[in-house]
Amino acid sequence: MMAKVDKLIDQVQENVITWRRHLHKHPELSFQEEKTAQFVYETLCALGNLEVSRPTKTSVMARLIGSQPGKVLALRADMDALAVQEENDFDFVSQNPGIMHACGHDGHTAMLLGTASILSQLQDQIQGEVRFLFQHAEELFPGGSRELIRAGAMSGVDSILGLHVMSHLPTGKIGIIYGPAMASSDTFDAIIQGRGGHASQPHFTVDPVAVGAQVVTNLQHIVSRSLDPLEKLVVSVTTFHSGTANNIIPDTATMQGSIRSFSKDVRQQAAEQIDKIFSGITAAHGASYTLDYHYGYDSVNNDAAITKIVEETVEQLWGKEAVVAMTPLMGGEDFSFYLNEAPGCFVFIGTGNQEQGMAYPIHHPRFTIDEASLAIGVKLSVSAALRLLD
Ligand code: NI
Repeated sequence: MMAKVDKLIDQVQENVITWRRHLHKHPELSFQEEKTAQFVYETLCALGNLEVSRPTKTSVMARLIGSQPGKVLALRADMDALAVQEENDFDFVSQNPGIMHACGHDGHTAMLLGTASILSQLQDQIQGEVRFLFQHAEELFPGGSRELIRAGAMSGVDSILGLHVMSHLPTGKIGIIYGPAMASSDTFDAIIQGRGGHASQPHFTVDPVAVGAQVVTNLQHIVSRSLDPLEKLVVSVTTFHSGTANNIIPDTATMQGSIRSFSKDVRQQAAEQIDKIFSGITAAHGASYTLDYHYGYDSVNNDAAITKIVEETVEQLWGKEAVVAMTPLMGGEDFSFYLNEAPGCFVFIGTGNQEQGMAYPIHHPRFTIDEASLAIGVKLSVSAALRLLD
């Protein structure tokens, strides 16, 4: 079987690179992936043996029904690009000004097309179903995954795999994380309402700058003072705006912030503590506040048993030295919502190549991937899929 897979990978490898370059050249922003989805749809239809559909305006789903009954495995790739002006100079740079595949989703999509190409040719050996989810809008809240779930993409699914390129891992390495892998990402917008006046008479005012500064300072006490320092948590105030002139105490101050965590409890406690701090500090100084706390993506929690199968697959294909045990990442991913529906694993594919200048971080204007990693991602996806369905 593996010899056959190797042969199919050899055959599809060039196509995967061509697909990736086409996608790289024509990036589209979240929820606007119209041409991308059309391209993916047409490519999948040409493969044969797949039931291809469009669950939402800019997403694509393909179902491969095996020759024997069995479990349902979903494989997911995200397809959207970012508002970044590309600074690379290869001949397939972005043709769309100010938009770039700076997070490698072009590679994810191309790898999943390659995986679909191979598995569709192995239909007679597949038990159950492989469901390919080409998801729109990972980069922009509320994200595309929940729309796909609402459209029924996860119905009957027993397990799910997703992958992300990782430029700080060299090509050939695969990053594995058990349990909490990526953080939940929440935000807040707040307004502190004081009472403005003349700067020379602060005692007639309620100074929202002074009160706001206390709020910022106190929010820093949540990590390690309100919550266990061993818990993984970030609370950052990222904007603070107030005032117009030297001699005016302003009426209001506005603030925004970002909260990252892994456990549901910690997430809830942090949200409550933020409200308590705004409430207590403003009350103490005669100010008032409004706080809009926005729950973003949930945390990505990899299932131990499925992650073990993925890890064993990597070891079997490339040896133990290919596995990199990674620590959790504070970034967010809407893959998390699929994992609320079925157990699964989100795995990281090394795409860095220092010698060839391919090690810029994701979201950088010169980010790119070592295309040698594409066949590795395809091989891992195909092999892990076959194991999970067996
Ligand atoms: Ni990404």
